[in-house]
Amino acid sequence: MTAQAAARYDDADFIRACRGQAHERVPVWFMRQAGRALPEYRAIRAEHEFEEVVRTPELAAEVTLQPVRRYGVDAAILFSDIVTPLQGLGVGVEIKPGVGPVVEHPVRSAADLERLRPLEVEEDLAFVMETVSILVDELEVPLIGFGGAPFTLASYLIEGGPSKSYTRTKQMMFADEALWHRLLERLADITLASLRGQVARGASAVQLFDSWAGALHPDDYARYVQPHSRRIFDGLADLGVPRIHFGVTTGELLGAMAEAGADVVGVDWRVPLTTARRRVPEGVSLQGNLEPAVALGPWELVEDRVRDVLRSAGGRPDHVFNLGHGVLPQTDPAVLERVVELVHREGRVAPPSATEAHGTGIGVARG
Ligand code: CP3
Repeated sequence: MTAQAAARYDDADFIRACRGQAHERVPVWFMRQAGRALPEYRAIRAEHEFEEVVRTPELAAEVTLQPVRRYGVDAAILFSDIVTPLQGLGVGVEIKPGVGPVVEHPVRSAADLERLRPLEVEEDLAFVMETVSILVDELEVPLIGFGGAPFTLASYLIEGGPSKSYTRTKQMMFADEALWHRLLERLADITLASLRGQVARGASAVQLFDSWAGALHPDDYARYVQPHSRRIFDGLADLGVPRIHFGVTTGELLGAMAEAGADVVGVDWRVPLTTARRRVPEGVSLQGNLEPAVALGPWELVEDRVRDVLRSAGGRPDHVFNLGHGVLPQTDPAVLERVVELVHREGRVAPPSATEAHGTGIGVARG
């Protein structure tokens, strides 16, 4: 590729919304739309382990396509995991069912950094590259590539698995700042190589998941984390694809996450989009933010909450509808299908003439 393949979706609502360009219909996709809630995914998982699915391009591509077929979403997201590139380097990370990524030898010292050599994406992640190529051929909507942000990856590597308090992670951050920065620099380079590889194979946008960055004070985020995430966003700038930056409980970090170099900031459900809009500079789009658990309630509630999100986005051209975090496994897929229909039916971008320089308070068109 590249410029040509990426340009293929320049007119897609999803890409235009990421860029804040005029379009009519609010685009929608869901984090973790592939997997979890879908019976067709569970049927595949009944025969293949999660990691086997990720490592088998035909299966990973099929699972990526399933939600696009069923829900009619405006974008696909690659089926993989944020720790997959680390596994590609031979770092011992196992995905334990019901737990998450578990690291065999946690990173605690300078010597441990040696295991994090530079990623040669075409060799170390050949199966991911092949999956992306299959998808780009088969899809009729943009493919979102993704990677783990340095802080969130570091938290798994240092803790050895999922954590609630991130104590060891913060211990390294505060007690050995030099080692911390060396670790995050290496992780940034690994994720950057992975994302550049996905775009080279035809992904039309990328999302950086800093899922757990919300554990940090804004000053600590700015000092210990933002420079490394910025290194990734800067390193993608020449590719011209929209760059999305997401984390949970990041209400106080939204401005800093935009400043790291994102074109779109993902907002979790705890922060109204009107508030997020004030925290994120003009020219940066917002993505979100229906609470995933709302989809477990009655349709009347879901409908109201979807309309609330659309209303709080204000009919501006710089909004991508999504959940505030991933689809919950208990979700009835039929509900998500109806959410997509509703967003497509009622989510209207106000025409540029009706807005003064990005507009404010424009209602959502009905019917
Ligand atoms: O639930 C499923 O869809 C089953 C497949 C699965 C994924 N990851 C897909 C995935 C499984 C079993 C995992 C393991 C895993 N990895 C867990 C366990 C929890 C779980 O959901 O079962 C966790 C916490 C991780 C680490 C991880 N992976 C994080 C923090 C993120 C970022 C997204 C987030 O939730 O904050 C991922 C990305 C991820 N895992 C994706 C997929 C398909 C890509 C992102 C997306 O689809 O939106």
